Amino acid sequence: MTSIIQTSKGLGFSPYYKYQNFWYPEHLLPHTLDMQATFKAQPSDIILATMMKSGTTWLKAIIFSVVKRHQYTSAQKKHPLLDSNSHDCFPFLHSIYEKNNQNQLDFMPSPRLLAVHMPFSHLPASIAESGCKLVYLCRNPKDAFVSLRHYLDKIKPIGSEMTPVDEAFDLFCQGVFPFGPIWDQMLEYRRESIKSPDKVLFLKYEDLKEDLAENIIKLAEFLSCPFSAEEVKRGVVEEIIQLCDFETMKNVKANQEGEHGAFVRFKNSAFFRKGKIGDWKDHITPDMAKRMDKIIEQKLHGSGLVF
Ligand code: A3P
Repeated sequence: MTSIIQTSKGLGFSPYYKYQNFWYPEHLLPHTLDMQATFKAQPSDIILATMMKSGTTWLKAIIFSVVKRHQYTSAQKKHPLLDSNSHDCFPFLHSIYEKNNQNQLDFMPSPRLLAVHMPFSHLPASIAESGCKLVYLCRNPKDAFVSLRHYLDKIKPIGSEMTPVDEAFDLFCQGVFPFGPIWDQMLEYRRESIKSPDKVLFLKYEDLKEDLAENIIKLAEFLSCPFSAEEVKRGVVEEIIQLCDFETMKNVKANQEGEHGAFVRFKNSAFFRKGKIGDWKDHITPDMAKRMDKIIEQKLHGSGLVF
């Protein structure tokens, strides 16, 4: 832990540590480092890396339904996504390590679906070495900030206090964000997706919202399980869209009543709030928005990435 050079108040109720230029929530750093040192990726693995609050719950459901579509169809009442939370079908690697459940990795059917929030440069070396597929998802930083604040407020342990919003926003502008600065996280994955388009797919929440069918088709091709013309005609893509729709997912009993988490336990319903683009307008002032826009413009300049 000698490379931890800074600690900061977090954006919610617990502090973050800066480790090799990225901010980690206190409770996740040891598990992430353990996983980084010991996780052995397989060539068939599918790794989903996401910016926190960028739609991970949604994209996990989409990838699960695409990859497992020959096993389950939404017409069957037994589809796992109608019976459980997508984080249970598609776990985070850091959660597996947090619960000391590494044995689970040996028994997962291929392709193993595993998720992380960490930056590309911190991924276990075996991920790049194995040549497995990596999907990255990000979102407009202003919406991610607002979504994160609501989420942390919902899941905070009784008696803990949230960092006041102005202070949290100042920290965010300085790059403090779980597994961020988010601009550095986005740029790392962006660069890799350009360098190795067959290995890294870069997605934005806003693009999924705009044309989900097109993105599902692209995703299936990237994951080497393209839809046949017959499947498209049969409406399989539309079925997946419906199964993963915000209202459908939000109303699944396991997503309303089930619980999640090891460090703090909270209701799965915390993963579903509004699911909209631009909700930041109702929560941060125009001056705050201008300040963030300027930072994002400077940081992403020349990358081709815009929000
Ligand atoms: P909001 O807080 O803006 O509503 P994550 O899954 O990475 O934690 O991201 C959570 C965000 O994704 C929340 O955004 C949540 O409402 C939204 N979300 C969850 N399920 C969704 C779905 N099926 N479709 C669209 N957005 C979804």
